[in-house]
Amino acid sequence: MSRKELFVLSVILTVALGFHHDFEKLYRSSTNRMVDFSIYKSPENEKYNAFWKADGQNFLRKKIMESQIYNKAKNAIIFLGDGMGVGTTTATRVFKAQNKGQRFGEEESLSFDQFPFSGLSRTYCTNAQVPDSACTATAYLGGVKTNIALLGVNSNVPFKNCTAANDPANQVESIMAWAQRSGKATGIVTTTTVSHASPGAAYAHVANRMWQSDSDVLADGEDPVVCKDIASQLIHSFPGKNFDVIFGGGRTNFLPKRTFDETNAEGLRSDGRNLINQWKAYHPEGTYITNRDQLLSLPINNTKRVLGLFHAQDLDFHQYSDKAYQPTLEEMTEAAIKVLSRNQNGYVLFVEGGRIDHGNHFTRAHLALDECNEFDKAIENAAKRTNPYETLTVVTSDHSHPVSVAGYGPRGNDVLGLVEGMSDLNGHGFAVLNYPVGPDQYIGKDIKQEFTDRLEFPSPSYINSFIGNHGGDDVSVYAKGPYSHLFTGSMEQNEIPHKIAYALCIGNGLKVCK
Ligand SMILES: *[C@@H]1O[C@H](CO)[C@@H](O)[C@H](O)[C@H]1NC(C)=O
Ligand SMILES: *[C@@H]1O[C@H](CO)[C@@H](O)[C@H](O)[C@H]1NC(C)=O
Ligand SMILES: [Zn+2]
Repeated sequence: MSRKELFVLSVILTVALGFHHDFEKLYRSSTNRMVDFSIYKSPENEKYNAFWKADGQNFLRKKIMESQIYNKAKNAIIFLGDGMGVGTTTATRVFKAQNKGQRFGEEESLSFDQFPFSGLSRTYCTNAQVPDSACTATAYLGGVKTNIALLGVNSNVPFKNCTAANDPANQVESIMAWAQRSGKATGIVTTTTVSHASPGAAYAHVANRMWQSDSDVLADGEDPVVCKDIASQLIHSFPGKNFDVIFGGGRTNFLPKRTFDETNAEGLRSDGRNLINQWKAYHPEGTYITNRDQLLSLPINNTKRVLGLFHAQDLDFHQYSDKAYQPTLEEMTEAAIKVLSRNQNGYVLFVEGGRIDHGNHFTRAHLALDECNEFDKAIENAAKRTNPYETLTVVTSDHSHPVSVAGYGPRGNDVLGLVEGMSDLNGHGFAVLNYPVGPDQYIGKDIKQEFTDRLEFPSPSYINSFIGNHGGDDVSVYAKGPYSHLFTGSMEQNEIPHKIAYALCIGNGLKVCK
């Protein structure tokens, strides 16, 4: 809807209400239903106490009526926005609204803003103030904090030491292993490679997260027979080999050299193994797919197990993707839920918006916000097709990125633009979104000209670096469903899977069912 259309709509609503500021009346009439006050927000309405009072009372009413759900959860979905700090979610909210032509945007909600419970997660790792995606994934999927770059092993393991990583005493089992032992279906969905750090912690144990294929192990001077690469662990080891759904990118890590995929990309493996063919041989009931058409036409009722590798490497950024060929995160999530829901014992699903982090690393805020917006759509879709009395949904991030929403821009300032009406000491305009660390190409320059093609525009930085760095500030945790009230307050990141397992009654810790 354009701003003009929205304005017309607000005029119609205003007329329908009789008085544009009679929010007392609106509030009373809304006793039994939630009113989306954001549609009434306008400079005119916002002048009145009655508007804000009704708005505040409306939210209070919703909060009072919310109940804590104390039955055992059947299913759990963990949504992970990689590199999705609070700055990213705030900016994405405005981006989402402005994309729809809304007049302002600050009052918009992401789907998970509506979740009843939220808290903060401390993301540091055992040897790192600011972490990476590997040690953090080991924490939020396995419940154990470890060293940076380690995946599915504890901090007893020195970096790249495979002897130590292969010792079962040093390995960290993920919630996917616990779920499988309880007869639950399991699945992973990501926009990166399926052997990337975040999904990797669901099934792999490695002394270096970079070892996605055996060639990466060889390049590090290690023996791939001793140091099993992440892709091979997904296909050959518990619990990855039992996953019912695997959706993401990274075909080349599964194919041998001199073998070419659908896009003519050459396999990366040195061991001559075709892991995709091996997966098919292990799972004669399984379906292997590589594009959007195959995903959308998947006969769900006859699909017991599915491996979907939709790109040679990471999936393309949504903004740049071939929409006919590459499925969206929402489409992959919807299909995953449908397939996993066939299991009577329930399921645990991990869904990663993996390229929010990459947009932020490239200090390309537009890409990061668009990926976060896509992540939001996947969560909204899942919320529609799951019952909050049986499915626990947790949305969080592994670590932050230090994107700042800066400068006193007026309400409704284009979040991807310059701060309206402000300039720096040289009289130059400056951007709303900034990253401290990144290419410093705009220092001292008037950046107005370069904003013409926003998609290509790296946001300004003042610490000159090739790419942006992660942030060490806390990330949010949002939860809905059974025992979602446990996900409140300031928590350690490794608490998360313990709480999910409690609600699902799986694993060997505390359980709701004893
Ligand atoms: C690897 O770790 C083991 C202990 O698990 C240790 O005995 C060995 O010395 C380490 N190797 C190297 C090269 O650090
Ligand atoms: C698939 O199964 C569901 C539930 O058992 C059923 O309602 C639906 O009609 C089936 N769809 C097809 C195409 O057979
Ligand atoms: Zn990163």
